[in-house]
Amino acid sequence: MAEHPAYPVGLRLSGRRVVVLGGGQVAQRRLPALIAAGADIVLVSPEATASVEAMADAGEITWVRRGYEDGDLAAAWYALIATSDPAANTAASAEAERHRVWCVRSDDADQATAWTPATGHSEGVTVAVLTTHARGRDPRHTAAIRDAVVEGLRDGTLVAPHHRTRTPGVALVGGGPGDPDLITVRGRRLLAEADVVIADRLGPRDLLAELPPHVEVIDAAKIPYGRYMAQEAINNALVEHAKQGKAVVRLKGGDPFVFGRGMEEVQALAEAGIPCTVVPGISSSISVPGAAGIPVTHRGVAHEFTVVSGHVAPDDERSLVDWPSLAKLTGTLVVLMGVDKIGKIAETLVAHGRSPGTPVALVQEGTTAAQRRVDATLATVAETVRAEDVKPPAVIVIGEVVRVGPAPSA
Ligand SMILES: C[S@@+](CC[C@H](N)C(=O)[O-])C[C@H]1O[C@@H](n2cnc3c(N)ncnc32)[C@H](O)[C@@H]1O
Repeated sequence: MAEHPAYPVGLRLSGRRVVVLGGGQVAQRRLPALIAAGADIVLVSPEATASVEAMADAGEITWVRRGYEDGDLAAAWYALIATSDPAANTAASAEAERHRVWCVRSDDADQATAWTPATGHSEGVTVAVLTTHARGRDPRHTAAIRDAVVEGLRDGTLVAPHHRTRTPGVALVGGGPGDPDLITVRGRRLLAEADVVIADRLGPRDLLAELPPHVEVIDAAKIPYGRYMAQEAINNALVEHAKQGKAVVRLKGGDPFVFGRGMEEVQALAEAGIPCTVVPGISSSISVPGAAGIPVTHRGVAHEFTVVSGHVAPDDERSLVDWPSLAKLTGTLVVLMGVDKIGKIAETLVAHGRSPGTPVALVQEGTTAAQRRVDATLATVAETVRAEDVKPPAVIVIGEVVRVGPAPSA
């Protein structure tokens, strides 16, 4: 039997009886996929691991608490034989053969009539990797091949050109704070499928260099806007490229909906009748402080954090921020786009009750090779920003959380 290669097949087990013999680690590993396949699972075993027992308690499997007995496999479509008793395993596989039930054996692949492949899933496809012959079985090798294929499909480094399912219209992708590893798996895959990418200055720009040459990369800041506002020009560019039937990715820094004007783009696309997928991103407001060793909350220190735009000064009539109320909060304030206005912001917070000694950290170009952290207090921050020449983009963190981590090394 082992001389011939295995014949791969996908079993549709929904509602069909599957018998599992043995409730140990092998069963624990295999049961979730059988449950997901909708199988009617009967576990025969005097004992079971705590996880297997939990599956029985949850009604996902029926547990018969005894050892294997002849006849257990009679009504099964498929069997997993994994007891710790070799004699029981041999007897059970003989019974499976008699009843023509395909069976996997954890202790002896040679005697099994079926093998479990190493499996993984990516966007509606199951990747299953089998060893060709029992003798050459190397589970780590099959698992490594499975991982390489699934990871490649997920992150877009492996593209199946003839069968790829492209998401129609525009994908609004949050690219994360800058480190190319901090985009989501979905964002990366959509980027790999794009014909046109319209990118912001902030975000994972290194990823753009990896795109194949046919992909048109447009710098959003350089789209000419003539009689339009810059944002309108970007909206128009998204609509125009999508109307040409191209797969368009709008790559934004952080999360599209955190001071990202993402919803304006969603609205413009909806008005033009163009389908739009939104892919959330890791916002700099949380990740950049974290990358510099600052948690935005900490037990016993801060039970809230507030993310505020500092792009207009507190005394500017266009400001929608209630700075006096923010001054009265005890938790963390995270200010984005605030480097230029930090002097006025600090002054206002102190004027309305925050202690001048409140710690402040500015994290410039967080998560990139150029990341830099500068520490100050509300009293000193304006001068520190000048003296240290802190430049945007920077996230400013105000509050006691700045001091809870180990002292910054730079
Ligand atoms: C227009 S907002 C966009 C925020 C973005 N949507 C997000 O969720 O991170 C731009 C501001 O985000 C902050 N920012 C974004 N990326 C940053 C990074 N890598 N390092 C420091 N600040 C960053 C800066 O305050 C910058 O001025």
